[in-house]
Amino acid sequence: MKFFLDTANLDAIRKAAELGMCDGVTTNPTLIAQEMKHHDHLISEIAKIIKGPISVEGDSDTCDGIVKEAEIFKSWAPNVVIKVPMTHEGLKAVRILEKKGIHTNVTLVFSPSQALLAAKAGASYVSPFVGRLDDISENGMQLVRDILEIYKNYGFKTQVIVASIRHPNHVVEAAKAGAHIATIPADVFNKMWHHPLTDKGIAKFKEDYKKTANLKK
Ligand code: G3P
Repeated sequence: MKFFLDTANLDAIRKAAELGMCDGVTTNPTLIAQEMKHHDHLISEIAKIIKGPISVEGDSDTCDGIVKEAEIFKSWAPNVVIKVPMTHEGLKAVRILEKKGIHTNVTLVFSPSQALLAAKAGASYVSPFVGRLDDISENGMQLVRDILEIYKNYGFKTQVIVASIRHPNHVVEAAKAGAHIATIPADVFNKMWHHPLTDKGIAKFKEDYKKTANLKK
């Protein structure tokens, strides 16, 4: 399973990269706006740290506009992947971009039929948003399982990026479902380490270590 970081924060990306646990990055206009830096500068900086795929999203809603924007984004770094909205125009752009060898990530996917269309269009990646579905009392992870089943039935090569992750259990459920990738917000990534029994156990072992460390031989 690959871990992407769902952030445009350079410190968070550096920290995860140091651990060798950041296989890629996903951004969107909201995440870029949180950093208040120029889009091109930020993506180029991320690309200095991460050699894996970096998803970048613009604001065009026509096929021509998406393709033009994609060419600009690709000039920022060779490993840029174009996030394309799940629309009629978006899927037209997916086919054109993939034919040119530019990888796409169809985003804002909320149903199995949308994911099926994204795969038929030839997208490299599809991003089901599990948290936003859970927020409206639907079952985000069931969508992931449905997409994986459909893709397996027909041997589609499109990789599933589980997105809109809210907590560590979303990552675990994505792994159990066999998703190719989880894109994890930095705060959720940090929570994956922690367990109170681990902290308690370390404190107790430290305390007991001292008891014998200075015994005379
Ligand atoms: O990768 C998509 C993700 O950033 C959306 O997350 O928390 O805004 O639903 P969220």
